[in-house]
Amino acid sequence: MKAEPELLVGLDLGTSKVAVVVAERDDRTGEAQIIGVGQAPSYGIRKGLIVNLEQAVSSVRNAVEDARHMVGLDFYRVTVAFSGTDVQSVLTRGMVSLGRTPRPVLESDVERAIEVAQSELDVTSNHSVLHAIPVDFCLDGHSGIDDPLGMTGSRLELELQSLIVPTSTIQNVINCVERAGLAVDGLLLKPLAAAMGALSTEEAHSGAAVVDLGGGTTGIAVYSEGRPRRLSVIPVGGDHITNDLACVLKIPTSKAEALKKEVSLTEEPDAMEDLLDVDVRGQKVSFSVGQVAEIVGCRIEEIFETLVGKELTKSGLTMFPAGIVMAGGVANTGGLDSFVSDVLDLPVRTAAPLDANRMPPGRDGTEFAASAGVIRYVLQKEEKPYRYLEPSASLLKGRSDVGGHSAERKILPRLVVDKREADGAIRSLMDTIKKSFRELF
Ligand SMILES: Nc1ncnc2c1ncn2[C@@H]1O[C@H](COP(=O)(O)OP(=O)(O)O)[C@@H](O)[C@H]1O
Ligand SMILES: [Mg+2]
Repeated sequence: MKAEPELLVGLDLGTSKVAVVVAERDDRTGEAQIIGVGQAPSYGIRKGLIVNLEQAVSSVRNAVEDARHMVGLDFYRVTVAFSGTDVQSVLTRGMVSLGRTPRPVLESDVERAIEVAQSELDVTSNHSVLHAIPVDFCLDGHSGIDDPLGMTGSRLELELQSLIVPTSTIQNVINCVERAGLAVDGLLLKPLAAAMGALSTEEAHSGAAVVDLGGGTTGIAVYSEGRPRRLSVIPVGGDHITNDLACVLKIPTSKAEALKKEVSLTEEPDAMEDLLDVDVRGQKVSFSVGQVAEIVGCRIEEIFETLVGKELTKSGLTMFPAGIVMAGGVANTGGLDSFVSDVLDLPVRTAAPLDANRMPPGRDGTEFAASAGVIRYVLQKEEKPYRYLEPSASLLKGRSDVGGHSAERKILPRLVVDKREADGAIRSLMDTIKKSFRELF
């Protein structure tokens, strides 16, 4: 009898849609290929936060059902990408001595350096570290080292990117997914998923920002030298454009949603006067293309000039040779590339998912880039776990019943829960790290 294939499943908990990407692993090569993409409209999630659990659970169920139907296979374990507000992206440094005589760097040295960098974090009692990502290794003052293992030196330093999010956000996500009958294998922040799904290796190395424009949120991931320098979520997205149109033109939201998809931001001057008809309660109302495009452009300009611009500045990078890589549903707006390029004075491209050729037609657009990115994240983490440390789902869940002192909350994931549970989880985390190090030697 043919063995059941091993499936990797990514769940993208968006504000407009829930998407489920299913990949099948080839047991000979170990490689995974996307075999299906399910989706369902998302209800009960606003600005990246779950506001109605029952509705969110049923949206997840519908998307999962759709995916199961498409691939004809059952699955339970998923890795979940989600947004949320109040995401903090913090860089800290950790340094350890390797002794007076230079010697090769061991895995335990890297672990120690990560711990030192984490001890610099100030995590309040109701927040958790979702990701801890080493972004630069430095040996005896030489930075830019991709992988220090086995290299000789006497002082190891690393720079750690930590993503801190409200614990309740994570708990609501886990709760929602579990109530939909699934088990959470891993969690990741959507801007990281979008970067994984849309950014080419070359862009990530030369310096670029992925801007994932969804319904209620915009995720930003700034990359340089192949590593994420800053990840953030701003609670503004395509739904705001729809609301602007509905308010200014005094039309129902559903009509505004359709209207915004009809205009381009780089319309030819003579097309500006063309009229678009909208049926409002049985009455025909007309608006000029120019009028609609101006309202859409206003909001987009605000998003990029003010909000995205601020994030680029906060990243500390001054050069973005590969410019802006746009993903998400709003990236389908006509003429967005050149419009944003003018606003930010940077090159801009709209990204199809890197795996688009493996995705079903109609579900291979830029709005699925983050969804497909979850699979790439799972594979990369598998290959080099210490590159993307994250606490286990059970650990984060357990955290809700634990009172604590701020000093005990600094390190991921060791000090966030009940000691026994934490010890077990750390052992398994360290085992995974060690295994990856062994494979590297
Ligand atoms: N052709 C289009 N033109 C403009 N906006 C679009 C278009 N298609 C989708 N959108 C907008 O994209 C947003 C949804 O993006 P998506 O990435 O699917 O959301 P999320 O990831 O938050 O669920 C909605 O605001 C939707 O109106
Ligand atoms: Mg999206």
